Amino acid sequence: MINLLAVLGSPRKGGNTDILLSKAMEGAQAAGANVKKIELRLLKITPCMELYECKKTGRCAIVDDMTPLYEEIDSSHRLIIASPIFFYTVTAQTKAFIDRCQAGWARRYILGKRIDSPYGRKGALIAVGATKGKRLFDGVRLTIKYFFDAIDMDFAEELLVRGVDEKGEILKYPEYLNEAYELGFRMGTP
Ligand SMILES: Cc1cc2nc3c(=O)[nH]c(=O)nc-3n(C[C@H](O)[C@H](O)[C@H](O)COP(=O)(O)O)c2cc1C
Repeated sequence: MINLLAVLGSPRKGGNTDILLSKAMEGAQAAGANVKKIELRLLKITPCMELYECKKTGRCAIVDDMTPLYEEIDSSHRLIIASPIFFYTVTAQTKAFIDRCQAGWARRYILGKRIDSPYGRKGALIAVGATKGKRLFDGVRLTIKYFFDAIDMDFAEELLVRGVDEKGEILKYPEYLNEAYELGFRMGTP
């Protein structure tokens, strides 16, 4: 069975990315996946301190709410990360979570250890921004590309929504809700 981790990076419960992520989770569950949601706003995740214990052990020396998440990330076959765009990238909550995955980068590229998975390892991004500029998602795409690389996943899917700002405004766009469901269904399929 596919294990899928759904990571919500928005500080706004019931906001646009939360709604889209919930739809994606519904799709993944319909495809038969075992789905778990992590809400970063509820956790205390210290930013990376560059202690670099991870270069020796592959593990982060900081002990906090991130500590149990490493095992969750490693044992997941799929991960969907959902963040609104804040200043052209992910939220601070999401960035702290990503930076702490430098331990994964060290494990992969310094210690040369990979993660085996019978279903492959795939990641997806859901992002929402208020404005409509052509380059709105340039920053987040790069950040997420290298995040998935660090946790040994392929960047497989993205759902990027422009022009949505007020809390829950995404509900006015059933086409995006449907796209999120379909993304989740594909991610939840072996
Ligand atoms: C601190 C902050 C920074 C933001 N920066 C951007 C931005 O750079 N570009 C943009 O299009 N929207 C920006 N927004 C708007 C949010 O991306 C938008 O309101 C989004 O729908 C919020 O999603 P949520 O309901 O899931 O939290 C910003 C909002 C906040 C609070």
